[in-house]
Amino acid sequence: MNVFITGSTGFLGGEVLVELSKRKEIDKIFCLVRAKAGEQAIERMKKIFDLHGDLLDQKKIIPIEGDLTQADLTDYLTKHPLLGNVNVIIHSAADTNFSPIYDEILEQINILGLEKILAWSTQLKNLQTFTYVGTATICGMDIKNRVVKENESPNENVKHLVKYTETKMRGEMMVRNYLPKEKILVVRPSIIMGDSRPVQPRSYVIMWALAAINLLRLVPINPDAELDIISVDYAAKAIVKLLFSKRKYSVYHISAGTAGSTSPRKATQAIEYYFPHRPEFEFVDRSLIREVKLWARKKLNGYSDLKNYPEHLTYWDNIFDDATDLRILMGGLEPYLDFIELGQTFDNSRLLEDTDLGQAEPAHEYMKRSAHFLDKIDIFAAALAP
Ligand SMILES: NC(=O)c1ccc[n+]([C@@H]2O[C@H](COP(=O)([O-])OP(=O)(O)OC[C@H]3O[C@@H](n4cnc5c(N)ncnc54)[C@H](OP(=O)(O)O)[C@@H]3O)[C@@H](O)[C@H]2O)c1
Repeated sequence: MNVFITGSTGFLGGEVLVELSKRKEIDKIFCLVRAKAGEQAIERMKKIFDLHGDLLDQKKIIPIEGDLTQADLTDYLTKHPLLGNVNVIIHSAADTNFSPIYDEILEQINILGLEKILAWSTQLKNLQTFTYVGTATICGMDIKNRVVKENESPNENVKHLVKYTETKMRGEMMVRNYLPKEKILVVRPSIIMGDSRPVQPRSYVIMWALAAINLLRLVPINPDAELDIISVDYAAKAIVKLLFSKRKYSVYHISAGTAGSTSPRKATQAIEYYFPHRPEFEFVDRSLIREVKLWARKKLNGYSDLKNYPEHLTYWDNIFDDATDLRILMGGLEPYLDFIELGQTFDNSRLLEDTDLGQAEPAHEYMKRSAHFLDKIDIFAAALAP
């Protein structure tokens, strides 16, 4: 079996690639990689495997230099001498930014880039499975405080918090327009954060938001909102297991479900032991975010509810040399707080039924082992490109 994967230099794609590389059933894994910052594709491959000391078999793992934005990508892949006998495609590459300044790039990569891969895939004579890595959050923002099932999406009528989820939903619909159902595997991860093994996570995506909440200590969010978070190693194992399993469905949530869900209160309790000198966590109403921003501008009036937390305001005075830092942090964090507030969990019974993976460990359990990594995150850089 020959596999073609996009996005293998990313957080999830990197783990999927390493997991795939261990499967004996696979002959070759072709990785679409863009050469970046003067680094050749093969050097980027080496980094993926070096991070956790995994073996890179260069006979099996073959980089294919290319970019989803290149105009001739379909033609380039079609004529590529190594790619005629690809059986499985895993499309994990995407732009995952939440900020509206990336809207045009999201369109180029998540829609037009995907379309180029799909147009190539229809020409492959031996294609068995096209795996589209979607996201469970395509269900939109109208669903609140309940379990979401796979068959509720895609629904073109839902409202989205950010353009990113809208492009992921349209992408999934496009896959269905290009390929027959029996060739499609859609995996929809929930929120991927950290690694459940005692290793440095491949990326601090999402984890930076927990680090920011951990720094702030006074957070405008419902502490008991249910949160569906999984580790990247669980997500990668799930995708590879699904690929090799006898599947009853074409769409699967890769999620923690209600049995493995967490909440802001549980996640912060899991890590607070590592930061004993910070004030206790306090959770205030979501509406106070406006007042936090006013405080950062030194425009908060005397009657604000925020004044009920003098210890935290003094602490902010001490840790933020410049109140602009707090504004940057809040600006980057806001879309994440919006997602948390929805209280969505994603049904995982299909995944548990069709694989022997077992229930995901709740984030508040595995994060106890990862609290020390929170200190290493540059949260201000992350907040500038949420
Ligand atoms: N992380 C989550 O919580 C989460 C949750 C649900 C679903 N997902 C989905 O999972 C997938 C992977 O997400 P992730 O967190 O691993 O994202 P990521 O770390 O940002 O990785 C994105 C990958 O896409 C590649 N890519 C971006 N633009 C490209 C282009 N123009 N040409 C070729 N490759 C390009 C990147 O390559 P470079 O290294 O060259 O930039 C990188 O390998 C995405 O489809 C995402 O929607 C993620």
